[in-house]
Amino acid sequence: MSTPTHLVSGGQSRAGDSCVMIIFGATGDLTRRKLLPALYNLAKAKLLSRKFALIGAAFDQLSSEAFREHLVEAIRTYATDEAEEPDAEVLAWFERRMYYAQGDFRDPEFYWRLKELCTEVSGKNGIEDNYFYYLATAPNFFGEIIRQLGQAGMATEEGDHWRRVIIEKPFGHDLESAKQLNAEIKQVLRERQIYRIDHYLGKETVQNILVFRFANSIFEPIWNRRYIDHVQITAAETVGVEQRGSYYENAGALRDMVPNHLFQLLSLTTMEPPVSFAANAVRDEQTKVLRAVQIPTPEDVLSKTTRGQYGEGVIDGEPVPGYRSEPNVASDSKTETFVAMRMMIDNWRWADVPFYLRTGKRLARRTTEIAIQFRRAPLVLFRNTAIDQLRTNRLVIYLQPNEGISLQFGAKVPGPVMKLGTVKMDFDYEDYFGSTPNTGYERLLLDCMTGDATLFQRADMVEAGWCLIQPVLDVWKALPPRSFPNYAAGSWGPREADELLERDGRHWINGG
Ligand code: BG6
Repeated sequence: MSTPTHLVSGGQSRAGDSCVMIIFGATGDLTRRKLLPALYNLAKAKLLSRKFALIGAAFDQLSSEAFREHLVEAIRTYATDEAEEPDAEVLAWFERRMYYAQGDFRDPEFYWRLKELCTEVSGKNGIEDNYFYYLATAPNFFGEIIRQLGQAGMATEEGDHWRRVIIEKPFGHDLESAKQLNAEIKQVLRERQIYRIDHYLGKETVQNILVFRFANSIFEPIWNRRYIDHVQITAAETVGVEQRGSYYENAGALRDMVPNHLFQLLSLTTMEPPVSFAANAVRDEQTKVLRAVQIPTPEDVLSKTTRGQYGEGVIDGEPVPGYRSEPNVASDSKTETFVAMRMMIDNWRWADVPFYLRTGKRLARRTTEIAIQFRRAPLVLFRNTAIDQLRTNRLVIYLQPNEGISLQFGAKVPGPVMKLGTVKMDFDYEDYFGSTPNTGYERLLLDCMTGDATLFQRADMVEAGWCLIQPVLDVWKALPPRSFPNYAAGSWGPREADELLERDGRHWINGG
């Protein structure tokens, strides 16, 4: 279905600036699954400058030809539907602009070679003197690569020519290490050159939260403590830890999902209207609201957060192993694969409104959603309906796998007696707008190439997020879990997570 034209307005259509993009970690999974397909989609949509080239940098011994083959395979597999062949012209254009640099990221000599290659590649392709570095490496390389780029003179901007760096997550391991990394990279780069990525912000529906709230006049007046009872933010996955055991053992669900993805959803849902959509105006408001979230005390951590780890169970009718039997996971692992927490925001808009956040692997259903539960009507006039049978209004923003918005309200059930039922008004993104190939990285790469940092995290936002998480990490470290595994794969998480809401007289909305 094509996009109804009367609905299209504005939108970003400017192609990225002419630049050389250098991906560190170019033979890794992220490059193959997301970055190369996203670049292809941008090229196909004519949103990559004609004067563009890509240098893949990695430790593996590979020729430029072998790297090009890697690119073609990645595009065939991840950018297009199985049945669809990639556009031959776009692919050939791309292949001609693709280079590979092998080396050790800790070796200064590698950067001098890379610098020479950059000059050669930009000269050969008539590219402006702009460089876009993408750090798709293990996090322990982030500081090192930026320091080396600085030493080799590859990070200094002159005139209108830019140097920008995208840094993947995780940004730090805790508050201290995030601060340290910020301090380290700021010795080389200005804040405006740094793009800390959170791929959730590349999702259409996440961006749509801002549009929904601030481009419509009917929701904002009720978007506050007078009308909203509580909010639930869920990021549930059915997959397990897959091949990422060694990373996940040190991260756990809390670090992996909460200070980044869930706090993005929380801040976009709760921020005040920004004065404009300029990057700093939006990020100021997001940071402000994160700073207004109550920092949990040790008692809060015990009573308002819960953690879990999956044992064996059944997903989609298939038996699956428990977390402790996954590859590269310790057989007595204490790492959490589920977390739920209750957060409160101390400001005029949100005082006393609980925000319940939860995320976990191997849960019953894959869904990422934000449910806004409104208060009950002040007075119930309908005698035949017991007040506790009346459902309240609920607005759910579905982010994935279904993308849409649903509003639940009461309606009269047809018939001679007055009976109330609950109905839903649904908007489905795909039904309305059709679907376009999208890895979620296109918009973010393009924004970096046009210098728009709105959808990237600023240093103070990252630190504000870690400030809220640090007390939880501290208490959990001091009190290792004793009951792991405590939920079966394929369930909705540990019993304690249900109790967290039951204590407040509420329950999780599990697809209801
Ligand atoms: C990543 C986490 O950042 O996000 C993964 O490291 C998680 O553990 C993933 O599975 C979820 O992303 P998405 O886009 O599939 O919801």
